[in-house]
Amino acid sequence: MDGRAVPSGHGDGHEHGDQGGTAGAGERPAGGIAEREPGSGARIAPRRVSFDWDGTPLHWIPGEPTATHVVNVLHLLLPAGERWFVKVFKEALPLVTDPDLLRDVKGFMGQEATHSTQHTYVLDHLAAQGLDTVPYLRRLDFLFDVLLGDKPPFRQPVPPREWLRFRLAVIAAIEQFTAVLGDWVLGADALEEAETDPVMLDLLRWHGAEEVEHRSVAFDMYQHCAGTGATGYARRLYAMAVVAPVMLWLWASGTAYLLRHDPVLGRRLRYSLREHNRAVAKGLLPTWGELGRAIPRYMKRSYHPSQEGSLRRAVEYLASSPAARSAAGAFARATL
Ligand SMILES: [Fe+2]
Ligand SMILES: [Fe+2]
Repeated sequence: MDGRAVPSGHGDGHEHGDQGGTAGAGERPAGGIAEREPGSGARIAPRRVSFDWDGTPLHWIPGEPTATHVVNVLHLLLPAGERWFVKVFKEALPLVTDPDLLRDVKGFMGQEATHSTQHTYVLDHLAAQGLDTVPYLRRLDFLFDVLLGDKPPFRQPVPPREWLRFRLAVIAAIEQFTAVLGDWVLGADALEEAETDPVMLDLLRWHGAEEVEHRSVAFDMYQHCAGTGATGYARRLYAMAVVAPVMLWLWASGTAYLLRHDPVLGRRLRYSLREHNRAVAKGLLPTWGELGRAIPRYMKRSYHPSQEGSLRRAVEYLASSPAARSAAGAFARATL
C-alpha cells in the first residue's frame, strides 16, 4: 500500500445516474481496451486507512436493527469474497498483455485485499459484542473454496482456461453491484440524518468510493482474458444470471442469521420484507429498483461500467475520508 491519493483531473463528467455516456479519457469503452490519454495520470491504488471500532454500537444505525444487519451482510461476504477475487486475479495475471490494464489490475487487487482486511476487523468487533458469525462464514468458505475454487466442483469436465474465464465473469458481475452500492452509499444522506455511527459510515463510504473508482477493472479484465465476441458476451450474461439470485439469497440468509443471533434482540425480531421496505422508505437501504435496474444495464452488449455512478463524487470522498486522512497523518508522523 502506498497511500497515494488518486490524482485530480480524473473526474469523468459522469454524474450520479448518468447512463449511456461514452467512456472518458483514461477509460475503456465497451468491446475492448481503450487507449489511455497520455499523461492522464489516472491510477488505481490502495490507500492506508485506520478505523477505531471501540465506540461503535451493535446497532450502528440507532433503532434500526434490520437496516443495520442488512448492511452488516457486507462484513460477512466481503472478507472471503474479496480474498477470492484476489486469488482468481492472481491466477489470471499471466494472461494480461496490456500494461495499463496490468497496472489497474494490480491496484484493484491491492484495494480489494485492503477492503477484505478492514471488514474482517468489523467481524471481530461483532464477535466482541456477542454476535458470533463463524457458522455463517463456514458456508461462505464452501462457496468460495469448493464451488468456486481452483478447480470446477464435483469433477465437472470444464477445461481450466474456461473455468478461469467463468470465474472472471462472476467477479465482473459482482463488481456491477458493488459499484451500484458504492455510489448509493456515497449519496445516502438519510444515513447521516439517522445518526449512523460515523466510523461505520466512513468505512462504507471509503469502500464504496473505491468500488466506484475501480468499477471498470474487473469488466475490462474479463473482456481482455475472455474476448468480446459472442461467446464472451454469452458467458457474461450467464454469469450475471447466476450471480444476481445467489447474491439475493446470500443477502437474505445473512440478514436472517444476524438478526437471529443478535444478543440484544434475543430472537424477538425476524427478517421480513416489511421491515426491509420500511428501511428502504426511510432511505436507509437502496431501493429494489436501484438494484434491479443494474441487471438489464449490464446485460446490454454495448455496456461498460464506466457509465456507473459518479467518479467525481467518489474521488472527492476519498480525499476527505477521516479514516484515510488519519492513517495518512499517522504514516507521515511515523516517517518524520
Ligand atoms: Fe471491495
Ligand atoms: Fe471491487
